[in-house]
Amino acid sequence: MAIGNIMVIGAGQMGGGIAQVMAQAGHKVYLNDIKQEFIDNRIQFIEKLLTKNVAKGRMTEEEKAKTLENIVPELDMKKGAADSDLVIEAAIEDLKIKGGIFKDLDEAAKEGTILASNTSSLPITKIAAMTKRPDKVIGMHFMNPVPVMKLVEIIRGISTSQETFDTIKGLTEEIGKLPVEIKDFPAFALNRILITMINEAFYTLYEGVGSAEDIDTVMKYGANHPMGPLELADFIGLDTVLAIMTVMYEGFGDSKYRPCPLLKQYVQAGWVGKKCGRGVYTYDK
Ligand code: CAA
Repeated sequence: MAIGNIMVIGAGQMGGGIAQVMAQAGHKVYLNDIKQEFIDNRIQFIEKLLTKNVAKGRMTEEEKAKTLENIVPELDMKKGAADSDLVIEAAIEDLKIKGGIFKDLDEAAKEGTILASNTSSLPITKIAAMTKRPDKVIGMHFMNPVPVMKLVEIIRGISTSQETFDTIKGLTEEIGKLPVEIKDFPAFALNRILITMINEAFYTLYEGVGSAEDIDTVMKYGANHPMGPLELADFIGLDTVLAIMTVMYEGFGDSKYRPCPLLKQYVQAGWVGKKCGRGVYTYDK
C-alpha cells in the first residue's frame, strides 16, 4: 500500500522529529497536539534545524521551504486522521491515554489507514486490541534525535498483517532509515538493553561507586558511547526512563529490572532531565 498523507500525534521531541523526517521525504504531515502553542513551538524548532542544514549545504532553501510547507498544524485529531493513510502516535507512555487515542483514531480514520505507535515499551498487541483494526496496528519505534538516528524498530502485534508490516518497512526505507523487525516483548530490544544499562548507572551512582561525571566518563572513554548513560538519561527524560523500567519490571516479573530508588526519587522531585532544566545535571533552560 502506498502511503501519502501522514498524521503525527504529539509535537514533543519524538513527534516533532518524526514529522520532520516524513515532511523532508515529501509527505504531507498533519502535526497534532492538545495545544496550538506546542505545535507552533515544535515547528519553530524544526525551522531552526532546517536553517542549519541549509547553512551546512545539506539542503537547499527550496527543500527547506517545501519541508515546512508539508507540515500542517492540526489541533483536530479526528480531522487529520480522516485525511491520512498512516497515523503515527507519539504521545506520552501511558497505556490508558494511548488506548483512548487509538479508539478515537479507529473511529475517525479511513478503513485502510494504518495506525502506528511510537511507544518505546508498551505492548502493541494490547494497543491493537483496543481497535477494530488490529491487523492495521503496528509499532514504529524511532530513536531520539529522530533526524540523526538511523534505526526504527518495527514491532508486530500478534494480529498485525503482513501487508501492514511490508508497508511500514517500505516507508521506513523510503525515508532513509534502517528498519529492524522486533517481537512484541516488554521494551522491545533497544530499550531492554539501553534502559537497563541506564538503570544500572543510577545504581552505580546511588551506591557511591563514582560521581555522575566519572560514571559518564568511564562509558564515554572506556566503551566509546557518544554520551554517558546519566547524560543520556537526562536527554531521554528520567520520567520516560522510569516508565520503561517499570514496564519491564512488571512485564517480565523479574527483579533484575527493579527501577533504582534514586531514579524514582529524581522523578518524584520533578527532576526529569534536560527538558525541565534539571535531571542528574542542571541545564540552562
Ligand atoms: N534534533 C535534531 N538534531 C539534533 C538534535 C535534536 N534534538 N540534537 C543534536 N542533533 C544534531 C545536531 O544538530 C548535529 O547536527 P550537525 O552535524 O548538522 O551539526 C548532530 O546531531 C550532532 O550534534 P552535536 O554536534 O551537537 O553533538 P554530538 O556530536 O555530541 O551528537 C548526539 C549529539 C547525536 C545526540 C549524540 O550525542 C548521540 O548519538 N547520543 C546518543 C543518542 C542516543 O543514544 N539516542 C537513543 C536514545 S534511546 C531512544 O531514543 C529510544 C527511547 O525510546 C528512549
